[in-house]
Amino acid sequence: MSSNPSARRALVTGASSGIGAATALALSSAGYEVHGAARREDRLADLSGVIGHHLDVTSDTSVEDLAAQFETLEVLVANAGGAFDAEEVGNASLASWEKAYDVNVLGTVRTIKAFLPALIASGNGHIVIMGSTAGRVVYENGGSYAAAKHALSAVAGTLRLELNGLPVRISEIAPGMVKTDEFAVTRFGGDKEKAAKVYQGVEKPLTAEDIADIVKWTVTLPAHVNIDLLVVRPLAQAAQHKVYRKA
Ligand SMILES: NC(=O)c1ccc[n+]([C@@H]2O[C@H](COP(=O)([O-])OP(=O)(O)OC[C@H]3O[C@@H](n4cnc5c(N)ncnc54)[C@H](OP(=O)(O)O)[C@@H]3O)[C@@H](O)[C@H]2O)c1
Repeated sequence: MSSNPSARRALVTGASSGIGAATALALSSAGYEVHGAARREDRLADLSGVIGHHLDVTSDTSVEDLAAQFETLEVLVANAGGAFDAEEVGNASLASWEKAYDVNVLGTVRTIKAFLPALIASGNGHIVIMGSTAGRVVYENGGSYAAAKHALSAVAGTLRLELNGLPVRISEIAPGMVKTDEFAVTRFGGDKEKAAKVYQGVEKPLTAEDIADIVKWTVTLPAHVNIDLLVVRPLAQAAQHKVYRKA
């Protein structure tokens, strides 16, 4: 039996930009009551049909205060995250490694922990973790991000084992190159020129909407169907290091 989207509530973290914003809109258009959360609340107000909430996933109080407003929740898209440097391990800023772990891993675990009772109480819960191909394959200068996303993949696998027998699906989505406005700019500390080089010559990188469609498909499958892991790259990216670029 297909799940009935019209009666379901979804929370998307990191909904103020990129993949999270597109996912919040996609789930809203699919009939979910969508709650979008991030630190920049003004950006959430721009998302038509989405109920905005301030959320800092690195703060216990912020996450717990939001979770207290939900008795039940069907879909949690744990998307808040990012890369904060592009440095060799030998030249690592430990503060940047801590930030990558804090936001991507602890932020996701904190959110899942707080919302798990509501997800179980819904009788048909689904946690979608936004991983990355960096959580499967490492690359030079990507150590802090790859380590965090590998850890996130371990969280997804562990949860699936621990929640076996409970009505909560766990899906990890692992995108490759997605061209969003802020991801690479954040990674390069605001340097837009460096950020633009990431996508240079790549005719069609993935878009935030591509990933939103995948999340929507994953959560609207019948309740007994669990997508464990979905790895998706643009056609031009045959592997982490093999990207076709037009001169
Ligand atoms: N773009 C890619 O190539 C790519 C590929 C694979 C995976 N991903 C993953 O997909 C997710 C979204 O990436 P994106 O490309 O859409 O990047 P983005 O536009 O930079 O989005 C990151 C989102 O995370 C939120 N966020 C960051 N720190 C937060 C915190 N402490 N508390 C709450 N929210 C926080 C940001 O909102 P505020 O700043 O308003 O809080 C923002 O909405 C990330 O987990 C990223 O690692 C991206």
